[in-house]
Amino acid sequence: MPTPLIIDCDPGQDDAIALLLAMANPDVFDLLGITTVAGNVPLSRTSYNARVIRELAGRPEVPVLAGCPRPMLMPPRSAEHIHGEGGIDGADLPEPRLPLTPGHAVVWLIETLRLADQPVTVATLGPMTNIAMAYVMAPDIVRKIDRVVLMGGSIGKGNITASAEFNIYVDPHAAAAVFASGVALTMIGLDVTHQARATPERIERIRSVGTNAARAAAGMLGFFSARYAEAGHVAGGAPLHDPCVIAYLLRPDLFVGRPMRVDVEVSSPLTLGRTVCDAERRDGRPPNATVLEKIDSDGYFRLIEEGVRRIS
Ligand code: BDR
Ligand code: CA
Repeated sequence: MPTPLIIDCDPGQDDAIALLLAMANPDVFDLLGITTVAGNVPLSRTSYNARVIRELAGRPEVPVLAGCPRPMLMPPRSAEHIHGEGGIDGADLPEPRLPLTPGHAVVWLIETLRLADQPVTVATLGPMTNIAMAYVMAPDIVRKIDRVVLMGGSIGKGNITASAEFNIYVDPHAAAAVFASGVALTMIGLDVTHQARATPERIERIRSVGTNAARAAAGMLGFFSARYAEAGHVAGGAPLHDPCVIAYLLRPDLFVGRPMRVDVEVSSPLTLGRTVCDAERRDGRPPNATVLEKIDSDGYFRLIEEGVRRIS
């Protein structure tokens, strides 16, 4: 039986490749819907991009719903310096024909989870505003979520500040609410994603697959990597963050992690959005997340190649 899955995202080139990987595996995932949030680019753009990628994947039946246009308390913060003005620059894809599904993503999330006849996996690839809002409006949904697998946070250093990773920093209050909700969590942070570099060789291997999806993915990775290099953050290819979430759901054997207590800093200006990860249970509280620490990055990029091969 395919796993019921909802993907909450802010595409973003890496979100887009994560969506492709999920939609390329209908035998594994019953993709109930894609919900969008403001993050890398504004909500109107993340929603447009999700529609573009749904059509590239040839999955018109998957609903796409727009969610929150801003974080809970913080002013909106986007990342065009990395993703470009459009968010999926480099993909060079046609305008989508299919519209958004009417309604608000948060309301849809609550209704869909309440009606689900088996627990649903929720993948979050952007700021966690939609999931936190759904939880605040309907705490009972926690019982219907099998687990939340999120790209965000870091045991070590940050990327948007020295301490914080972008998805958590943009809406730290939302992340704090989710981490404190009691839902089963798997955190895939920068410690993992910075091991998974889109090197020129890996990008060329993806391009050589030759499908439209492969060309779009390689184009996006080329753009994304060039921007990372210009920003001077990391050399040797951009870290390919978000598809790690889908790869983990497909092939958990490619990853290593362990249970930890994770709390999100919401008050210090210096360390706002930091995920404080305590593997040693220093204050005696039980773990609330499985935090991944290692990835087989060659195996990961092979999965992406297989994914874009399946989408003709
Ligand atoms: C995260 O931030 C965004 O720029 C990416 O899409 C990813 O979700 C990495 O910090
Ligand atoms: Ca993202």
